[in-house]
Amino acid sequence: METKGTRIGVSAEAYGKFNKKEDFVPKVITKSEEQISRIKDRIIKSILFQNLDQKEIEIVIGAMEEIQFEDQQNVITQGEQGDCLFVIEKGELDCFKLFKNEKAPRLVKQYFPGDSFGELALLYNAPRQATIVSKGPSILWKLDRETFNNIVRESAMKKRETYHDFLKKIEIFSTLEEYELYSIADALIPKSFRVGEFVINQGEIGDTFYIILDGQAEATKKFEGSDHPIHVKSYKDQDYFGELALIKGTPRAANIVALVS
Ligand code: CMP
Repeated sequence: METKGTRIGVSAEAYGKFNKKEDFVPKVITKSEEQISRIKDRIIKSILFQNLDQKEIEIVIGAMEEIQFEDQQNVITQGEQGDCLFVIEKGELDCFKLFKNEKAPRLVKQYFPGDSFGELALLYNAPRQATIVSKGPSILWKLDRETFNNIVRESAMKKRETYHDFLKKIEIFSTLEEYELYSIADALIPKSFRVGEFVINQGEIGDTFYIILDGQAEATKKFEGSDHPIHVKSYKDQDYFGELALIKGTPRAANIVALVS
């Protein structure tokens, strides 16, 4: 029962073929092998770039520019126009947002190496929605609007549009602000499971949270002194599971088995 279901991941190939955009000439900034390997390490793990194929990753790496910021320097200022996205190579940054009807900006997020920010201005052609300040010196990779629009934008938008309304209906996400919902949409990876397949095994260490997009599943649990797991809960569309191990840091408390493919 170890075989995983077919992954129907949102692929960059399906949505954003750069070679169809004949007039796009990618920017190329000369880099050392060492710089290339550092960017690769960062973007391979980044949610925003996870749907890109090898060629697209190379184009993105070629276009990136290394930039340094000093302690307390604004990388992005809320309300200004934005023409690039940043990926953190080294350092930590704070994100402050001034909300409507509030007098002072609030700290809403902290960024660490591998994180990216500044995508909203590019995705929605809007002014910067928050201010990002370097906490101590930092080194960032900057990606220009043209390369972002031609290579990354389509797959990122598709995912946000596909899952935003679905996530909004789920109870535990009902208090989240729009930006947080979109960030969750970015992180979703669609996976399918066959009937009878175990999505989660009781006793295992877990690092994933699941939401049923379409289908049904049941939770079964083996209690102490018993040889067989028994049915403890049913799940349908929009139900979620797998949160306990993440919140408590404990092994999976039950099995989850797919009932409908
Ligand atoms: P952008 O609007 O281009 O520039 C500011 C960035 O802050 C924004 O893109 C996001 O990447 C990031 N950000 C982090 N948290 C928020 C938030 N709550 N609302 C808006 N932007 C946020």
